[in-house]
Amino acid sequence: MAWKSDKTRYGAVARAMHWITAFALVAMIGSGLAAEAASGEAAAVNILRFHAVTGVAVLALTVLRILWWVLADRRPADTAQTPRWQSLAAHGVHYAFYLVIILLAGSGIATIALSGAGDILFGSETGALPRFEDFQPRGPHGFFAWATVGLVALHIAAALYHQFVIKDRLLERMGLGRA
Ligand code: HEM
Repeated sequence: MAWKSDKTRYGAVARAMHWITAFALVAMIGSGLAAEAASGEAAAVNILRFHAVTGVAVLALTVLRILWWVLADRRPADTAQTPRWQSLAAHGVHYAFYLVIILLAGSGIATIALSGAGDILFGSETGALPRFEDFQPRGPHGFFAWATVGLVALHIAAALYHQFVIKDRLLERMGLGRA
């Protein structure tokens, strides 16, 4: 399979970045909720370590994805049957993903930085974790997390609509099903 996309299919790099981001986002939503609900301090610290490191990796991958599209690759054309409003909605959701992931990771990093939790998670400090709600970026972080869940739901619904209602085998372009 080619590294770059062609007119009808995504290339290997775009597919890899898409599916790694998809799985990482599920792990991030799960670990964010688990960190919030964790009863013991040690469990919360371990979950938050994973959450922070993976979140920064998702941010780095998102920046790489944007650079990849701007500098190296071109998306396949929209399928012929796609009405204009659906193309606009699909592209809107794709751009919204990039924006929301950057805001989400940024607000998470700011929460850790302002609360001083970085020293407990990654440094030598051993005290209790701070109350994250006391720090301003924590509210937006929860909001952007739920916005991400909404975008994922719209994105999956659109993919399933193409696959099972329009039956244009759109998922094959992203490597699912017969190529
Ligand atoms: C990039 C994708 C990310 C996703 C999808 C995500 C998701 C979440 C979710 C769902 C929550 C619980 C929110 C709520 O119910 O109000 C949460 C909490 C949190 N996240 Fe993230 N997050 C991401 C990135 C980050 C990053 C990069 C950091 C820091 C480096 C971070 C730090 C935190 C902190 C400190 C909390 C609060 C935990 C608590 O309240 O105990 N997040 N995140």
